[in-house]
Amino acid sequence: MAHDFLPINGTDHIEFYVGNAKQAAMFYQFAFGFELIAYAGPETGVRDRASYVLKQGKITLVLTSSLYPDSEISEHVKKHGDGVKVLALWVDDARKSFEETVSRGAEIAQIPQVLNDEFGEVVTASIKTYGETIHTFVERKNYKGPFMPGYKPRQSTFKVQPIGLKYVDHCVGNVELGKMNHWVDFYSKVMGFSLLVTFDDKDISTEYSALMSKVVSNGNGYIKFPINEPAQGKKKSQIEEYLDFYRGPGVQHIAVATDDIIFTVSEMRKRGVEFLYVPETYYDDVPQRVGTISENLDDLKKLNILVDRDEEGYLLQIFTKPVQDRPTVFFEIIERNGAKSFGKGNFKALFESIEREQALRGNL
Ligand code: FE2
Repeated sequence: MAHDFLPINGTDHIEFYVGNAKQAAMFYQFAFGFELIAYAGPETGVRDRASYVLKQGKITLVLTSSLYPDSEISEHVKKHGDGVKVLALWVDDARKSFEETVSRGAEIAQIPQVLNDEFGEVVTASIKTYGETIHTFVERKNYKGPFMPGYKPRQSTFKVQPIGLKYVDHCVGNVELGKMNHWVDFYSKVMGFSLLVTFDDKDISTEYSALMSKVVSNGNGYIKFPINEPAQGKKKSQIEEYLDFYRGPGVQHIAVATDDIIFTVSEMRKRGVEFLYVPETYYDDVPQRVGTISENLDDLKKLNILVDRDEEGYLLQIFTKPVQDRPTVFFEIIERNGAKSFGKGNFKALFESIEREQALRGNL
């Protein structure tokens, strides 16, 4: 590959704008096993918002609520409900990342700024992507604090039990009909990503609805962004349902990796997290479709975990129901055993499962 003008070390953090960050933070601590590591709010000199920073493995989530009615955060929550505002990328040079992408046509969300405190210095700069979502470049090589200047260290008030989540595997965006290629072009031209794989409506359709998807990835493959758009079907695509309720494009799901999906999902179920359901018949052809795997099929069946295989290995995956009342953002839990793909063999079972939920909501 030619010179990578935007080297990225990984996902830095994902920031959600939510209606009640205090309660959302409790949900992710208790049910997902994230530790509270930092906080910003009135008690730390921040007057307009409260932000809780949660960490597990290499995954950092920031949950932010506005303290005032007519802020950018309040407007975002009013329009979209709880949702992802920032997909932040960890870089060695935030200014250069900003200049390289803006010179290639990125729209500016925030010009480079230097933040300081007793732990050192962080440089950030942001560009716009689909909908109201932004990418923030975070340069933290001269910083030793728990998160960023402006945030104070803070710990969970109870004993958090981690569930083995390791890193962000991929983050999926839903965009409007006809806009998928526009955003694929954005990621390739503006950010230097390459197209990894394409799924058309023949790969991803059920009797009723369809979608199309293309996956883009950065140079080292640490960042993977599938982009979905709705496709024509007999009934409403799940992507259209998302766009209706999110009121536009946005992050559809965040896939987080584990080395032990049986443990992770057992814990989440114990703690009350709800997952999409596939019928028992899904497991009938699993042995012939995926061949030998280390896990016991009965364990997978009991937890409703899905399996798929590609040329390089197999993967195990499961999807939560939406994590807020609007049928918008959800999480995927994924364990990769060699496979680098996205579970194409599960698409049909999965989309039928989503349609059952859509029908229950009266949106199919
Ligand atoms: Fe996914």
